[in-house]
Amino acid sequence: MARHLITSAIPYINGIKHLGNLVGSQLPADLFARFQRARGHEVLFLCSTDEHGTPAELAAAKAGEPVADYCARMHKVQAEIAKGFRLSFDHFGRSSSPQNHKLTQHLAGKLYEAGLIEEVTEKQVYSNADKRFLPDRYIEGTCPNCGYDKARGDQCENCTKQLDPTDLLEPRSAISGSTDLEVRETKHLFLRQSQMRDTLNAWIDSKTDWPVLTTSIARKWLNDGDGLQDRGITRDLDWGIPVKRGDEDWPGMEGKVFYVWFDAPIEYIACAAEWAEANGLDSDAWERWWRTERGAEDVRYTQFMGKDNVPFHTLSFPATLMGSGEDWKLVDYIKSFNYLNYDGGQFSTSQGRGVFMDQALDILPADYWRWWLLSHAPESSDAEFTWENFQASVNKDLADVLGNFVSRVTKFCRSKFGEVVPDAGEMGARETALIDRLTTRIRAYERHMEAMEVRKSAQELRAIWVEGNEYLQEAAPWATFKEDPETAAMQIRLALNLIRLYAVLSSPFIPDAAKTMQAAMQTSDDSWPDDVPTALTSLPPGHAFTVPEVLFAKITDDQREEWQARFSGTRD
Ligand code: MF3
Ligand code: ZN
Repeated sequence: MARHLITSAIPYINGIKHLGNLVGSQLPADLFARFQRARGHEVLFLCSTDEHGTPAELAAAKAGEPVADYCARMHKVQAEIAKGFRLSFDHFGRSSSPQNHKLTQHLAGKLYEAGLIEEVTEKQVYSNADKRFLPDRYIEGTCPNCGYDKARGDQCENCTKQLDPTDLLEPRSAISGSTDLEVRETKHLFLRQSQMRDTLNAWIDSKTDWPVLTTSIARKWLNDGDGLQDRGITRDLDWGIPVKRGDEDWPGMEGKVFYVWFDAPIEYIACAAEWAEANGLDSDAWERWWRTERGAEDVRYTQFMGKDNVPFHTLSFPATLMGSGEDWKLVDYIKSFNYLNYDGGQFSTSQGRGVFMDQALDILPADYWRWWLLSHAPESSDAEFTWENFQASVNKDLADVLGNFVSRVTKFCRSKFGEVVPDAGEMGARETALIDRLTTRIRAYERHMEAMEVRKSAQELRAIWVEGNEYLQEAAPWATFKEDPETAAMQIRLALNLIRLYAVLSSPFIPDAAKTMQAAMQTSDDSWPDDVPTALTSLPPGHAFTVPEVLFAKITDDQREEWQARFSGTRD
């Protein structure tokens, strides 16, 4: 039995994520976790909300709530939606947890002891009225380029020009509107990543099996131009993890917090500690996943994320862990994704363009979305969601191929043999050939799933369903029954066993339908088909079953058109 640590990039707390976010990390991570569990391996699958930084502060202010309350509320909302999509996290944590505070401060202390942290004095805008330093995006003013009067300190939204806060005409605080601003000196901590360039280069070089998308992004940042830049890891904000080294105060850093991108990946570790606490386990329980000297040596650690997250996971976070000089488990494999576009454009959180996770579940059950998203995962290039394509895949793959097979087999059996697996009849050449083909395909499916080739896995699974349909079409038990009821009984016995087999194989993709199929077959045997002929005798003659409800309803043209119009922009 292998041990799999699996993490998904942790979604920002502000707002509900869209389907593009879902397919870029949480959903494929769930697919892999479910597959590894189904194979009998030990899995710890973790995700959290990413709660610090200016976007969280701004969203809370907009909602008129204290930021801590806002985060607590939105965490519950995101947890509920994740449940709705059947994301099978062992724990859904929070980057604002006490565990993450402690670990982040601990690691900063270790990096400091190792000489990897530099204190740098910078000039920054201070607001006398707000009594705080203002980060770039908290400063507004008139754009010197186009005259737009709501340009932000980092960029003008109107003409896209990148700005420095000091470029703005008539600058004011975005918090209070005050123009009583001055430039003051402030101290910040920098992580000396550049010192670790050789170590990181060698580490990336050793990852010869990683997807090119992952290594090419890492190499670009390691070697382009100036190479790996030292990075500011603190901010002048109230909301965040206070800057300390271990338990000790950090002189000159009072009132400052760590930068969100410093503490967010550390939450992968803290989340395991939260998981242990939530389950009444001691620290050994999580450290055996994360500390190589306490058992994590034999853990296989896989991370899932969108391509924009790759630099942080290939460079900054490993630099933090390696630089600490401690025995932290490093990632073994990074699976990264391109973007999913929406109906001829981009998903846009700010414009409400596209389908958001809560809205998706309001119109259709999770399996429909899971199937489409995973079978169209943006792996080798960006992908596009269109309603036509969604309708076609659901209607063909789920309703016509899988759903129809289950319905025809169970209904035919009920009408001719009753709701029990029929006895009698011997398998012949057609059945042997089918089992051979299924064996080949199931082994291919396992290889693709093991390699996290999401689209290829979906294609193979679909082909496995198609095998059943084609067999049924050729064997035609409804015709056979008239002259040779014994052979028809054998064919249906095999087909009923195929339904159980399909439930097991399909459960990582469509867990609810798999459960319905398994329940209809009235069996608790969910063992993986290591040996296909044996797996197809799981339901013995005389075993009772029931005819399930329709597994998948087809999407009508009217529905498609209505949804297309509803999700074309601006969510209310
Ligand atoms: N919140 C980030 C995003 O959505 C991802 C953070 S992943 C972690 O892009 F590494 F920080 F954990
Ligand atoms: Zn402008």
